[in-house]
Amino acid sequence: MSNEIIDKLSSALKSAEGKLSSASSESDIESVRIELLGRNGLVPALSKDMKNVPPEQRAETGRAFNEAKEKLQKLLDEAKERLGPSSVSGAITDVTEPGRRWKIGKKHPITLVIDDCVAIFRRMGFIVAEGPEIDTVYNNFDALNTASDHPSRDPQDTFYFGDGRLLRTQTSPVQIRVMKSQEPPVRIVAPGRCFRRDTPDATHSMNFHQIEGLYIDKGVSMADLKSILLAFGREFFGPGVGIRLRPHFFPFTEPSVECDFSCVMCGGKGCRVCKNSGWLEISGAGMVDPNVMKAVGYDPEIWSGYAFGMGIERLAMIRYRINDIRLLYDNDKRFLSQFN
Ligand code: PHE
Repeated sequence: MSNEIIDKLSSALKSAEGKLSSASSESDIESVRIELLGRNGLVPALSKDMKNVPPEQRAETGRAFNEAKEKLQKLLDEAKERLGPSSVSGAITDVTEPGRRWKIGKKHPITLVIDDCVAIFRRMGFIVAEGPEIDTVYNNFDALNTASDHPSRDPQDTFYFGDGRLLRTQTSPVQIRVMKSQEPPVRIVAPGRCFRRDTPDATHSMNFHQIEGLYIDKGVSMADLKSILLAFGREFFGPGVGIRLRPHFFPFTEPSVECDFSCVMCGGKGCRVCKNSGWLEISGAGMVDPNVMKAVGYDPEIWSGYAFGMGIERLAMIRYRINDIRLLYDNDKRFLSQFN
């Protein structure tokens, strides 16, 4: 038996078969699907005419619908399979394209400098100690023999929490933490982040890094301090570097010095970087003040020692010829990817 609907279905199937066998893209296939099975397609339209089909033909017509849909789906699937996976997704595989490079991140220049400093001091027998960026006013100032009217304690210079804590202004409080937690001898370096209320400019940043050194033993002298600073300078900047010590003041060392390294740019002749002096100011240092020893319970009659602190950003800027400290904090990949 046959009726108009069954005839239309079978001729639609035939034309679909023809179109699909010559389909060359996913969109060709898709347009056949929409034409027949889509919401406004032929098959849904024909099924609306079912109500006009005489009852004795309904079962057969219904079967014809099911068969047509099944057949169509099969034809669509086969056509897709024939086009292959890359055409189905619409992408063309260029087999000559080079593989994608898996980029491995690089260390930040500040991390590079810290790693180098730590490696140099470890070779000389120092171990690494760390302290928190939020420390107590006591550890950052009082225990370090810093009088309550010392200018560095000014709220203009230091970030206070108002509850006896602050953002440490230097890595020197790690000296206190280490000495309080162990008996001498002590030989540590403490790298880390520090904070000061500075207005940012080419050489100032509100957060920056230092590396602290502390050596406590019997009979430690200024000569030991000088030799370690010189050894560090030669390892870090190169064998030609010389140092000089200038008298200075720090509350927690006595005597205190400022340690300069001969300018690595001009070899000491004088240039723009060293402001024609031939020297670069690198480190504050000195012999640990007896008052600091007393604050941590060490007997200054038995023990002596030195301490030093260096600015990591300054070391990085000199080593990599960076003329603005802010470049280190901009997170600009074009800048950061230059360092290895
Ligand atoms: N903490 C000092 C500063 O930030 C540096 C320093 C460290 C000086 C250790 C002496 C001894 O300037």
